[in-house]
Amino acid sequence: MENYNYYIEHSQKIADIEHSISVLNWDQEVFMPENSAPRRAQQIATLAGIHHELSTDKKFGEVLEKLQHENLTDIQQRNVNESLKAYEKSTKLNGAFVTKMSKTISESFVAWNEARSKSDFSIFAPKLEELVKLKREECKLFGYEDHPYNAQLDLYEPGATVKDLDILFKDVKHQLVEFVAKIASAPQNDEALMFQKYETSKQLAFTEELLTQMGYDFKSGRQDLSTHPFTTTFSPKDVRVTTRVNENDLSEILWSSIHEGGHALYEQGLKDENYGLPAGAYLSLGLHESQSRLYENNVGRSLNYWKHNFKKLQEIFPDNLNNYTTEDFYKAMNIVKPSLIRTNADELTYHFHVLIRYEIEKELIGGTIGVADLPQIWNQKYKEYLGIDVPNDSKGVLQDIHWSHGSFGYFPTYSIGSFYAAQFYNQASKEIDNLEELIKDGNFTPLLDWLREKIHQHGRLFAADELCIKITGEKLNFKYFMDYAKKKYSTLYNLN
Ligand code: CO
Repeated sequence: MENYNYYIEHSQKIADIEHSISVLNWDQEVFMPENSAPRRAQQIATLAGIHHELSTDKKFGEVLEKLQHENLTDIQQRNVNESLKAYEKSTKLNGAFVTKMSKTISESFVAWNEARSKSDFSIFAPKLEELVKLKREECKLFGYEDHPYNAQLDLYEPGATVKDLDILFKDVKHQLVEFVAKIASAPQNDEALMFQKYETSKQLAFTEELLTQMGYDFKSGRQDLSTHPFTTTFSPKDVRVTTRVNENDLSEILWSSIHEGGHALYEQGLKDENYGLPAGAYLSLGLHESQSRLYENNVGRSLNYWKHNFKKLQEIFPDNLNNYTTEDFYKAMNIVKPSLIRTNADELTYHFHVLIRYEIEKELIGGTIGVADLPQIWNQKYKEYLGIDVPNDSKGVLQDIHWSHGSFGYFPTYSIGSFYAAQFYNQASKEIDNLEELIKDGNFTPLLDWLREKIHQHGRLFAADELCIKITGEKLNFKYFMDYAKKKYSTLYNLN
C-alpha cells in the first residue's frame, strides 16, 4: 500500500495545482480588474510550470511503473493505468518543444485577434502555418496509427479515430443535410416573442430556479456572469457556472444556463473521495458535452419541460408573454435556419459547422491541404452544406478561437456530445417509468439519479466506447440523434 498511498498523495498535489489555476482563470473571466492582467498571466504561468514538474516527476513515474506489478484492486489498477498513460504523454514532449509550442500559440493568438478585427486572414496565416507544422511534429512525438489527426483527437476524445468519425460525419452529411432542406421548404415559425425587453435581474433569478430544479447544488457552486459562458471545477464540492444575459433576447441566458448546468451536474456527480485520481475525473470532452446537450436540447428544448416552466415565466414577464401559449414558446425556441456563425446555430445545422471544421482539420494535419487555401475551402464548404455566402474572413474562417490556441481535434467533440446525448436520453426513456410525465411535473430527480448511476460516478473508469456499450448495448450510433431530430422537427414544421 505504500506505493499506492504515495501515488494518491502525489496525484492530489497535481490536482491541487491544476484547480488553483482554475480558480485564477475563473476569477480572470468573472471578476478581475483589468490592471491585474500582466501579473495574473505570470501567476498562472508559474503554477503551470509547477504543474508540469509534478506531472513529469521522475519518482512519480517510477512509482507508477512499480505499481504495475503490485496486487491492486480493479479500480486501483485502472487508476494507475490511466495515470501512467497521462505520465507517458507528458514526458514525450521535451522542454524545448513545449516552450516553442507555447510561444507560437501566444503569437498565433495575437495574430488571430488582429486578423479577425481587420477581417484579413493573411495576418494570421504565417503564424498558423508555423503552428500547424509544430502540431504535425507533435503528432509524431505522441505517436499514432493510421492518421496523424488521430493523435490530436486523442487529446480530447481518447479512442476517437478518423475511421469512426468519417462514418459518423458521412451520416450527418447524407441524412441531416437532406432533412434540413426539407424544413427550409416548409412554412416557417415565428421567434419574435424571444426578442422583447426582458429585465435582466429577473432573467437571472429565473435561471437560478431552473438550475435548482435540475438538481444543481448551490452549496457546491454558484452562477456568475461572463462574456463566454463556461463551467469550471475546483472539486466536486465547488463547481462554478457562468452565463450571459441579454435584455433584448431571452434565449441567450436560457440555453447558456441550462447547458452549463448540465456540465456542472456531471462534475458535481464525480465522487469527492476520488479527488485527483482518474476515477474522479470526467471521461472525455464528448461525454462532458453529452451531459450539457442532454439538458439543453433533449430536456430544455422539449415541450414537456415548458409545460412545467412556461407558467412561471409568464408570471415573471406577464406583459411580454401573456398573449402567447406554451406551444408558441416551444416553436420560437426551436427555429432551424442555416447561419454563418457556429455559436449561434440551432441544434441541427450546428453539426454542419462542426462537419466543415472536421473535414478541414483532418486534411490540414494530414498535410493534404495548406493554410493558404483555407479561406477559399471554408467559403466553398459553407456554400455547399449551408447554402450560405460568407461575406468576409472574420465571419468565416476567422470566427473561432480554437485554431489560434492550437486546438485541433476539439470541434468533433461538440457533435459527438449531441449524438451521445440522444442515445443516452433514448435509453433513459426506456429505463425510467414515465420520464416525459415526470419532466412535465417538474420532477427531475429520477433523470439525474439515472445519469449519476450510469455515467457520473464512474469518472474515467471506463473508456467512452465501453461505457456507451455498457449503458445502451451498442457503440455511438448517429441513428438516435436522427430519430430524435425527425420526430421533433416533423411535428414542429408539420412535415408529412
Ligand atoms: Co459545452
